Amino acid sequence: MLAQTESNNTLVDRYGRTVDYIRLSITDRCDFRCVYCMSEDMIFLPREEVLSLEECVRLVRTFVDLGVGKVRITGGEPLVRKNALWLFQEIGQLPGLRELVVTTNGSQLEQQAQALRDAGVRRINISLDSLDAERFRKITRIGDLNKVLKGIQAAKAAKFERIKLNTVMMRGFNDDETIALVDFALRQGIDISFIEEMPLGEVDHTRASTYVSNDETLKLLQTRYILVSSAETTGGPARYWRIPDSETRVGFISPHSHNFCESCNRVRITCKGELYLCLGQEDKVDLMHLLRNFPNDDAPLREAIIGSMQIKPKGHDFDLRRAEPAVVRFMSMTGG
Ligand code: GTP
Ligand code: 5AD
Ligand code: SF4
Repeated sequence: MLAQTESNNTLVDRYGRTVDYIRLSITDRCDFRCVYCMSEDMIFLPREEVLSLEECVRLVRTFVDLGVGKVRITGGEPLVRKNALWLFQEIGQLPGLRELVVTTNGSQLEQQAQALRDAGVRRINISLDSLDAERFRKITRIGDLNKVLKGIQAAKAAKFERIKLNTVMMRGFNDDETIALVDFALRQGIDISFIEEMPLGEVDHTRASTYVSNDETLKLLQTRYILVSSAETTGGPARYWRIPDSETRVGFISPHSHNFCESCNRVRITCKGELYLCLGQEDKVDLMHLLRNFPNDDAPLREAIIGSMQIKPKGHDFDLRRAEPAVVRFMSMTGG
C-alpha cells in the first residue's frame, strides 16, 4: 500500500500502519547519566541547535492537524528544560489532542508534578531501576533515589490518571530486585513495566552479558504473584498483566523477545528537529530547517511529514550478539 494522507488527515505508512502518536524529545540534557542511556562524559548540544519551545508547539500543532492524538514529551530529562511547563500548557490546550503524557526520571517531580497535572498531563511514566540508594547511584551514576521517591509521592498527590514505573532490567545490576520493585508498585497502587535493554549508543558495559529476557522476569514474578494476562493497551508497546485485587498492572516491553513493530503507531522527534521514523533505525527527515526557513508557512513542514510515511521502516533489528550498537545515537537523543 502506498503512503497516504487520507481525506480525514490520517498519516498512514506503506505497511498500512496509522501513525497517531508522536514522542517529542525537548532536550538531550539530563541530570542523571544512566549506564544504559549515556556515556559518563556526554557532550550536550549547543542551545541554538535545539528546537525552541515555540518551534516545538508549532511542530506538535502540525502533527495534531495531521491526525496525531497522543503526544509524549521525553528527553533527556524533559523537566530540566527551562520553561518546560509553558510547553505543556500550550500543548495541553491544542484542540484535537486526545492525550498529553510525559516520561521522566522523576527528579523534578516534587516541584513540578501538580503543575503538569494542571496543564493537562494525564499519565506519567517514571524511570526507577532500583530501590537501593547506593545501587540507584551506580545505575544513574549521579542520581539521588530519595529525590525520585519524593517525586513519585508528589505524582500520586497530583492524582494523575495513571503512574507507571519503567525498569530497565540488567543482569548484575538490578535483576535481584524484580519482586521488591513489584511489591513497591503494589504498595503505591501504580503500574510498572519491565524493559529489555536496547543497544542504542556506545555504553561501557556489554549488553549481551547484562541482557535479561522479559520471559525470565515474568517466570520469576509468577513464583510470587498470580498474574492474569490482560488485553489492555496504553497505545504503547507494553503487554500487560494484572495482579488480582490490586490496582497494579505489570507490563513488559520486549524489543528483543517479542517484537511489536507490526503494530507500531508512532514516530519520534529529537530536540534537534529530526523526525525519526523508528527508534531502532536511521531513517529520518530534518524538520528544523523547514521550521526555520519557512517561519510563516506550514505547508513545507506538512508535506515533509506526509512524505516521511514513505520511509517508515518495517521494524527495528536489534541483535545483542553484535559488538557494536544497532544504532549509534544515544537514547537521550531519540527520547526513548
Ligand atoms: P505508554 O504505553 O504510552 O505508557 O508509553 P511507553 O511505555 O511506550 O513509553 P515510555 O516512554 O515509558 O517508554 C518505555 C520504554 O519503551 C522505553 O525504553 C522506550 O524506549 C520503549 N519504547 C517505546 N516505544 C517504542 C518503540 O516504538 N520501539 C521500541 N523498540 N521501544 C519503544
Ligand atoms: N534500553 C531500554 N530502555 C532504555 N531507556 C533508556 N535507555 C534505554 C535502553 N538503552 C528507558 C529509560 C526510560 C525510557 C524513556 O527509556 O529507562 O524509562
Ligand atoms: Fe537521563 Fe533518562 Fe537517560 Fe537516565 S535514561 S540518563 S534519566 S535520559
